[in-house]
Parts: sequence; C-alpha cells; structure tokens
Amino acid sequence: MVKETLKARVIIDKDYIISDIDKRVYGSFIEHLGRAVYGGIYEPGHESAEENGFRQDVIELVKELQVPIIRYPGGNMVSAYNWEDGVGPKENRPKRLELAWRVTETNEVGTNEFMDWANLVNADVMMAINLGTRGIDAARNFIEYCNHPGGTYWSELRKEHGYASPHQIKTWCLGNEMDGPWQIGHKTADEYGRIAAETAKALRLVDPSIELVSCGSSNAEMPTFPEWEATTLDHTYEHVDYISLHQYYGNRTNDTANYLASTLDMDNFIKTVVSTCDYIKAKKRSKKQINLSFDEWNVWFHSNEQDKQIEPWTVAPPQLEDIYTLEDALLVGSMLNTMLKHSDRVKIACMAQLVNVIAPIMTETGGAVWKQTIFYPYYYTSVYGRGKALNPIISSPKYDSEDYTDVPYLDTSVVYNEEKEELVVFAVNRHLEEKLQFDIDIRSFADFEIVEHIVLENEDVKAANRIGDEQVKPHSNGQSHKESDKIIGTFSKLSWNMIRLQKRQ
Ligand code: AHR
Repeated sequence: MVKETLKARVIIDKDYIISDIDKRVYGSFIEHLGRAVYGGIYEPGHESAEENGFRQDVIELVKELQVPIIRYPGGNMVSAYNWEDGVGPKENRPKRLELAWRVTETNEVGTNEFMDWANLVNADVMMAINLGTRGIDAARNFIEYCNHPGGTYWSELRKEHGYASPHQIKTWCLGNEMDGPWQIGHKTADEYGRIAAETAKALRLVDPSIELVSCGSSNAEMPTFPEWEATTLDHTYEHVDYISLHQYYGNRTNDTANYLASTLDMDNFIKTVVSTCDYIKAKKRSKKQINLSFDEWNVWFHSNEQDKQIEPWTVAPPQLEDIYTLEDALLVGSMLNTMLKHSDRVKIACMAQLVNVIAPIMTETGGAVWKQTIFYPYYYTSVYGRGKALNPIISSPKYDSEDYTDVPYLDTSVVYNEEKEELVVFAVNRHLEEKLQFDIDIRSFADFEIVEHIVLENEDVKAANRIGDEQVKPHSNGQSHKESDKIIGTFSKLSWNMIRLQKRQ
C-alpha cells in the first residue's frame, strides 16, 4: 500500500489581525534560586565579570535574546523576602535562611544591583513584592525607596545608597502563587483578595503611574482554579491591571505525542482565565478589561529527582538545572505560538527562568556559558515575532493522544511586522515520523519573498546540548519556495520552523 503524504493548508491575510503584540510577551524571570543569580548572572572573579561582578558572557546572551522585561526576585523566594536585607553597604547585609528553597541567602545582590544589571541587558524589571510574610507597610516603603524622587526617608536612603535617580519600576506583582499550600504565608482567595486590593491602593498612592499584577492560580490543575481567579478579582478588579498565570509541562510518561499536545491545555487555561476575568467585569458592570500576565511558563521536570538531594542551607547550590532536549524545544516553540495566538489578552509573559534555573542560558561556575535547545525558539520568536499577530486559517491532519483529541500535527503562529515589511511564520510539526507538506496561501502578501527558512531538528528527539557540544542547533536549509501567492514546502518530522518573508524591493 502506498503511504499517503500528510498535507496541511494555511491561509494568511493582512486583514485577519488578532492584535498588536506587546513585546513584553518575550519577558523572562530571574529568581534568587539555585545558580540563577550567584554563579549565573553574578560571579565576581569570573574572567568575564565587569566591575560590579556581572558576567559579560551572560549579559551578551541575554541581550541576544532581546528580553524586554525580567521578573525579580521571585518566585517562591519572594514570599519571605525582606527587601531591606538587599540594599545598602554589602558588608552590613545579613545572611538569612531562605525558606522557600531551604538555602542560605547572602544578599550580596539586591534591588539596586539587579536594577543595574537589568540596565546592562536593556530590560525593564517586573518587581514582585512579599505578600506572604509581609504586607502593606513593607510594600509601600519599598516602592517609596524605588520610585519616589527624594525628600522622604526611604527615597533619601536610596540616594545614600548611591542611586540619586529613582528606578521608576512600572510593573509590580502583588505576591507570588498565593493559592499554593507550599507558599510561605499561603492564603485563601478572600484573604489574598483583600490584602492584594489594599496593598494595590497603597502602592498607587505612592506612584499612580504603576501597573499591577494580581496572583492567579499556580497552575490549571489547582483544585481552587478558576474559583480563585473569580474570588480574588472580585476584590482586586478595580485596583489591578493583570492577573497572572503560571504553567510548566514535563514529559513524565515519556509519551512525546501527548507531551507535544500540552499546548492544547495551555490554550484552554488562557481561555478559562479570560472568561473568568470577563465574568467579573460583567458582574461589576465595569468598563475596565483585565489582561493576562503569563509570568511563569516553561518545561520543568528533568531535575525534579536530583533536587531532592540538595544539602539544606548551602549557598547557591545547583537547583532546577533541567537539561533540555529537542522535544522540549518543540514544546517551547508551541507555547510561544500559543501566547501569540492570544496576544489580544496575553500582554506579559515570562519564560521561567533565564539563567541556570530551568533556563535557556547555562553557565559553568568559573567557566563557559552555553545555549540549551530551548534557547533557539525563544530567540527567533523574540527577535522576529514583533508586530501584529495574524490569525492563520489552518487545515491540518490531526491525531489523538493519551490526554488530548484532535491534535493538529501543524501548530503555527504568524506575525506581520509592518515597519520592517516582514511576514514571519512559526511552525511546529508534531508528527513523530512523517514530514508534513504544506501550502500557505499568502494572498495579500503576494509581493513578499522568502528570506530564510530556519529549522530546528535532530534524528534523536532526546538530543540535548551540553557545554562545548551543541547537538541541537538551527540550520537554514528549510524546504520551502514561493509559487505566485503561495509558499509551498515541507516541515520535517518533529521540527520547529521559522519562515521569514520580506516585501520585494
Ligand atoms: O520558577 C520556579 C518556581 O515555580 C517559582 O519559584 C514558583 O513561583 C513556581 O512554583
């Protein structure tokens, strides 16, 4: 019997606009956790360290990713963090038991140092405040320290610490994962809603120009999801701008087809949060729209077992150091596609995290820096995925997996950059064995030509990168060509692709 070739059809049109893409969907996250800060971005004594101890080799890779915003300082860690410990002369800073990850925090790096580093990588900072062990008072002092120009106790203290100009931090997270029983100072939805609303009011009184993110559920499997969103927003709706979403996936059962379908779950998660926000909007007869901040997302499972061996109270031990494979990179590419398909409501998203901890960038303490497989879809989507997200009409063969039905083999998102006159198609072929033939009708872009077709693939779906050994890296020999107003070609099995077109000059 002759095997039939798998075929997919896509229609792209300039008029099928989802939304302008907020560049902050390419944000990331640095937590005081494992070797993210100490031994990651900061390593005085390293041969590439600049005057303040930040590794230049890491700075260069972060800049390559063009990360527009970075969430800091946690994560779980923030729920017992005293921001005052991390400012002022370093020799006076206390060493503390860091309870979330049960390590010792030296506080050598704190708010001012991190703001300096963020400047070096051209990123804004999304600052999280502690609503676990602390509340309104510490939060209002903290924002006065960071954002108030001067003439008051906390703003003058910042000046004494060497920072004459305010940091002007615009985006603030009201705590972290407060629905999770593991969180220090975990709260019920009503408890959190009340403290978040009152803290939001105080923060805005200090600086009315800020934007605020209310904590959503820690993941879509939380038993309190989506009631948590409804109840907390009932309290916070008029005081905040975004609600957070967090989600990590892992191929725990070694079922690649099912794993690569996880973005159907992510899509559903986003839709449910949007509906819940809009339900509260209707309930309150409000004119305001709450948008989504997907401020933790990635693959996280490889390191779970080894992390059980960590010696408590050590300083910056390796934690959450997942080594990523090709299949993880394909899923990360699909997660980015999912974010773009919801760019009308997802305005901020943070790949968690950025360096060493479930990260695209890895370092060897005292040694080199290297790129994980997931670096590549993140890099290309961040650099070329700017402009307007278009809604592609897709017809693709489908499959069923353990947890999902009707999973399209082809997963794609499309971006039109009017300024650069560029059209970019990001595509994942989820098929384990077959290439996928495609024809993409680009009707209103008929005068655009293919500039490059980048592919990430490997015969071995479990191939991973290691220091000095990059098994999974992109090539530019993608199979596609233009035929009048169509792009015709093939996506190899288990591949991530970017086809970039530019208007003919
Ligand atoms: O990113 C790792 C951890 O995942 C964060 O600290 C926490 O917010 C989430 O559970």
